[in-house]
Amino acid sequence: MYSEKVMDHFQNPRNVGEIENASGVGTVGNAKCGDIMRIFLDIDDEGIVRDAKFKTFGCGAAVATSSMATELVKGKTIQEALQVTNKAVMEALDGLPPVKVHCSLLAEEAIHAALWDYAEKHHIVIEGLERPKNDISEGEEEEEY
Ligand code: FES
Repeated sequence: MYSEKVMDHFQNPRNVGEIENASGVGTVGNAKCGDIMRIFLDIDDEGIVRDAKFKTFGCGAAVATSSMATELVKGKTIQEALQVTNKAVMEALDGLPPVKVHCSLLAEEAIHAALWDYAEKHHIVIEGLERPKNDISEGEEEEEY
């Protein structure tokens, strides 16, 4: 059911933890499944993501997607980090079962929330970044569970 990469990132998650005085922190949950993800980003003066860490209270797929998402944003510019969508995370993990797609959305939204926090702290506007939701299940169409 899960790809080897998903199992690997679930069993040996990369970048678990916190970054003290992070440039941006994003916390997003999904009230439907009760899972919560927090992503910390360290962004340097050139706008490069130097480090990324996460804390996820959630299912295995949420842990695997946070792990992969933090790996993918490291070393990227802010604009490139914005392109790390849930699709990109899923592709990097060789896919997720359909009922677990929403877990990868949590990762995308948590990165956006961390970038939003960074932008607010630095009084800048990141082009293409919309205000992230605290709860990704908000206003969502009924999903097939
Ligand atoms: Fe909700 Fe995975 S079941 S994030």
